[in-house]
Amino acid sequence: MRTQVGIVGAGPAGLLLAHLLYQQGIESVVIETQSRKHVEERVRAGVLEQGTVDLLNATGVGERMRREGLVHHGIELRFDRRGHRMDLHDLTGGRAITVYAQHEVVKDLIQARLTYRGPLVFEVEAVRIEGFDGDTPGIHYRSGGEECEIACDYIAGCDGFHGICRPSVPAGILRVYEKIYPFGWLGILAEAKPASDELIYANHERGFALLSMRTPQVSRLYLQCRPDENVAEWPDERIWEELQKRLETQDGFRLNEGPIFQKGVTAMRSFVTEPMQYGRLFLAGDAAHIVPPTGAKGLNLAVADVRILAHALARRYRDGAAEPLERYSAICLRRVWRAQHISWWMTSLLHRFEGGDGFEYRRQLAELDQVTTSRAAATVLAENYTGIPFELPGEKL
Ligand code: FAD
Ligand code: PHB
Repeated sequence: MRTQVGIVGAGPAGLLLAHLLYQQGIESVVIETQSRKHVEERVRAGVLEQGTVDLLNATGVGERMRREGLVHHGIELRFDRRGHRMDLHDLTGGRAITVYAQHEVVKDLIQARLTYRGPLVFEVEAVRIEGFDGDTPGIHYRSGGEECEIACDYIAGCDGFHGICRPSVPAGILRVYEKIYPFGWLGILAEAKPASDELIYANHERGFALLSMRTPQVSRLYLQCRPDENVAEWPDERIWEELQKRLETQDGFRLNEGPIFQKGVTAMRSFVTEPMQYGRLFLAGDAAHIVPPTGAKGLNLAVADVRILAHALARRYRDGAAEPLERYSAICLRRVWRAQHISWWMTSLLHRFEGGDGFEYRRQLAELDQVTTSRAAATVLAENYTGIPFELPGEKL
């Protein structure tokens, strides 16, 4: 098989890249190790920045999101048993976030790809990439028991943190920056009406808690836990009891409880690969970087990467310009580090760090006090939370 761009991974990064390339008249083939059902049901992110929403709408895949997504104009920061609303809309001159599950975005992108018959192969095995340091990149894999090869001009490594593309780059080329946090998140989905219309990020002596949602009937909630926490030790009653404690307020706030139908633990890390390209291989999304989920940035960063990559590839094919592709990594990394900073900052502002004499907790309260009383400090949070602009100052894509 021959194509222009071979895409490894059908997560949001790979699928959206394929879609953006299709719109530019560029051919691609997407391969994925998991089944369609698996990727369409994988519970992940839920918050889309304004720029992500605008891009999905502008490229014709936003119809269901416009109907079913929940537009939020604010979030709440809760500490010292009091809630403080951050008016994102007012602080940013009209921006909002949309709560719409990542796997719904994935479903919409798969549907679009199948509608225009773009090649998309699920359940492939033994994926290998080669030739990307020269002019003959190739992707090898097994599908339905047969050995297959895709010859292409470029390879997009959109295969997530545990994928094979990043480790295929020869040793000594990539530099990795990493920070592991001493905690994780236990996340649940429950059939329970969300007790708030907007997200609540809570700093509590017992640890961080987050109230989010998926629909007006389904709550998505998270609890700070040990990175290796055993879900089996968390029966439903224990989860509800802990969430109620961490989200309690002086004026008697109570969560609505209901049957929990999904539970999982995620460890938290910050991770950046530099550069995000080597020869004819371009890494995008979680394959190149990971952020802790506190700032809700991971999916949005993946979207920004492939938007920049699709633009650079379009320039290459349309007018032969090599420079945008050469600058791909530098352009992405600037916003990746901005997202790393906001994600690290929100994580350190809201989580409980073990040990010490309570100094850290007092410091967090002082910082939260400033963020919720100074318009300048609140604006920094609101601008970053609703989205780092696709084109940063001084940059032309
Ligand atoms: P992935 O979604 O990981 O997709 C990679 C794909 O490649 C997968 O389908 C995988 O099966 C496939 N693959 C792997 N290896 C191979 C191979 N060898 N060959 C072929 N295919 C392969 N982000 C936000 O923006 N907002 C949030 O609110 C948010 N909340 C989160 C909550 C949790 C609990 C978690 C875990 C993450 C959250 N994130 C959030 C992060 C977000 O989910 C990720 O950043 C996002 O999935 C990145 O997309 P991706 O396409 O780069 O990678
Ligand atoms: C989610 O709804 O899954 C979610 C919301 C906000 C975050 C992370 C995850 O910061």
